[in-house]
Amino acid sequence: MFPPKVRADDRVGASSSDSPVGSSSAEWCLSYGFHLRTVQRWLELLDAETYIDKKNAILKRCWELAELWQAANYSSASVEWYTPARYLEGVRLVLDKIDLDPASSTEANAVVRASKIFTKDDDGLKQAWFGRVFMNPPYGRTEDGKGSLAGAFCRKAIAEYECGNVKACIILVNSLHSQSWQAPLYDYAFCLVDHRIHFISADGQENASPTYQNVFVYLGHDVLKFAKVFARFGYVAKKIADAAPLAGEMLDLPDFLRRAAP
Ligand SMILES: C[S@@+](CC[C@H](N)C(=O)[O-])C[C@H]1O[C@@H](n2cnc3c(N)ncnc32)[C@H](O)[C@@H]1O
Repeated sequence: MFPPKVRADDRVGASSSDSPVGSSSAEWCLSYGFHLRTVQRWLELLDAETYIDKKNAILKRCWELAELWQAANYSSASVEWYTPARYLEGVRLVLDKIDLDPASSTEANAVVRASKIFTKDDDGLKQAWFGRVFMNPPYGRTEDGKGSLAGAFCRKAIAEYECGNVKACIILVNSLHSQSWQAPLYDYAFCLVDHRIHFISADGQENASPTYQNVFVYLGHDVLKFAKVFARFGYVAKKIADAAPLAGEMLDLPDFLRRAAP
């Protein structure tokens, strides 16, 4: 594919003095202003079979992403993704028992095993919450179409916990921490899941290629227990500052960091 005197040596910077003949293919490409990898990609695309395979793979992925985006933002049929049992075991270890799942269905509760559930027909957002709660909210838009449905469920969870109606709550949501509705969640202990959760569809199929990352958030007093149990699922953490400190001002460090400071 390269002229005869160009060596199949793809080390950029492998000068011609390293070898008695010609320049390396990387240098040859660079002499025309292109990186070797770029040229290799073009050459791959010239191969009809590879080109068609790659094009189809890219189209398939685009289609999947468009469907997921549509599902996450608009479709009401998309919300039936259930939490796999192993995470619910973790939830039960921390809460002892799940008194309430405010966003659920009869099928989902066969695994969640909450004493009480609210379904779409009840509208969990309009009910009074209580006790020890596990919540994996539905996505999409609120009824008025103006906000995130998951955001409304998270705000309700925090409000019900802060006023004392809810004793403790573990929230499982997609990790979308650049979205403003997620900001209040990070005032509590959380666990960034270090793998993709394979949620279960309403017909019992595991999602084989999950797209989203997830975070568990703990509203409760036994943060140590949450940390011990959820460390098996990822990185347990607590925010240490609210905003960049003003110049010269000290961060209000938590005790364990202050003790560690020299
Ligand atoms: C992501 S699924 C989670 C189900 C279950 N909590 C779990 O973790 O396996 C969200 C559930 O909320 C239900 N749902 C949708 N809108 C709701 C609403 N306004 N109030 C209560 N539940 C709702 C859906 O039907 C769905 O079963």
